[in-house]
Amino acid sequence: MSDLSVELAGIRLRNPLILASGIWGESGQSLVGAWDAGAAGVITKSIGSRPRPGYPNPTVEELGSWGMLNAMGLPNPGIREYSREIAFAREHGALVIGSIFGGTAEEFARLAREMAATGVRALELNLSCPHAEGFGTEIGSDPRDVDEVVRAVVREVKIPVIAKITPNAADPAALAAAAENAGARAISAINTVRALSIDPTLMRPVLAHGIGGLSGPAIKSVGLAAVWQIRQRVRVPIVGVGGISSGADVLEYVLAGACAVEIGTAVAHEGVRVFGRLAQELDQLLSKKGVSSLRELVGGAHRGFEIPAADFP
Ligand SMILES: Cc1cc2nc3c(=O)[nH]c(=O)nc-3n(C[C@H](O)[C@H](O)[C@H](O)COP(=O)(O)O)c2cc1C
Repeated sequence: MSDLSVELAGIRLRNPLILASGIWGESGQSLVGAWDAGAAGVITKSIGSRPRPGYPNPTVEELGSWGMLNAMGLPNPGIREYSREIAFAREHGALVIGSIFGGTAEEFARLAREMAATGVRALELNLSCPHAEGFGTEIGSDPRDVDEVVRAVVREVKIPVIAKITPNAADPAALAAAAENAGARAISAINTVRALSIDPTLMRPVLAHGIGGLSGPAIKSVGLAAVWQIRQRVRVPIVGVGGISSGADVLEYVLAGACAVEIGTAVAHEGVRVFGRLAQELDQLLSKKGVSSLRELVGGAHRGFEIPAADFP
């Protein structure tokens, strides 16, 4: 058995596999299900200040082996209601990371305080939601907005703040650098990739909202490139997200610079047993290579490329 444990912003994880936000985190029970199945951490769905119904159906289009397209519209019960679900998951031993979204830095900061009060171990900021003051843009697509939001949140809470970066910007690494500079203890990358599907029979977009976000195997290379470039710009740990569905995919992200990964669409397709399968595949890969600890491989593919000294083991 190889040692799959990693450390993320001072938090010891038993393996690098974390449940991604929005996929399986509707209830405390579903978070516990992922934890019991072997996830080392579980991220809640993104929670806002007030309950939101989300967009009308259809909100998801299945794209088979490619992945899926979704425009959910961030449906959620609001922080007050959801804190009960977090309490349930924590009572059952799960290591919970709280995801929040807001339209302004002030809203993020207020929510961060409320989310931290639920006892989550870290906060992940979903920086991919519409900017209330900048209609049509994502709050996380401009490094100045990222700086403002992260700074406001870091001032408000003591737990580590993870900034989740959008791939829908010219330079995701610049966003990550802004987040690090503002006090983020880790970066997660990526959220879904802006995408569209049109039904040629109905001659209209498949999703009720029109534009959606692509996830699953189709975006793995996009996520890998983001992690690679971010690794060359920042020193804080990186959590890789996007299209991971095998132990080899996890290893690719680790070699690109991630110290942990999040699993989304693969959980939607396979259920929480995916965590056990990925851990087993990863362990077999490391054993075959004669590597005793996954931590030795973080950023390994950068050898010969320019890379800053890391703060993590
Ligand atoms: C149905 C669905 C809902 C999602 N909801 C959220 C969310 O609430 N907050 C968030 O930060 N990311 C959300 N995401 C993005 C995922 O957390 C993840 O970043 C993305 O799907 C890429 O990973 P994957 O290819 O493993 O799915 C959602 C993705 C899907 C498919």
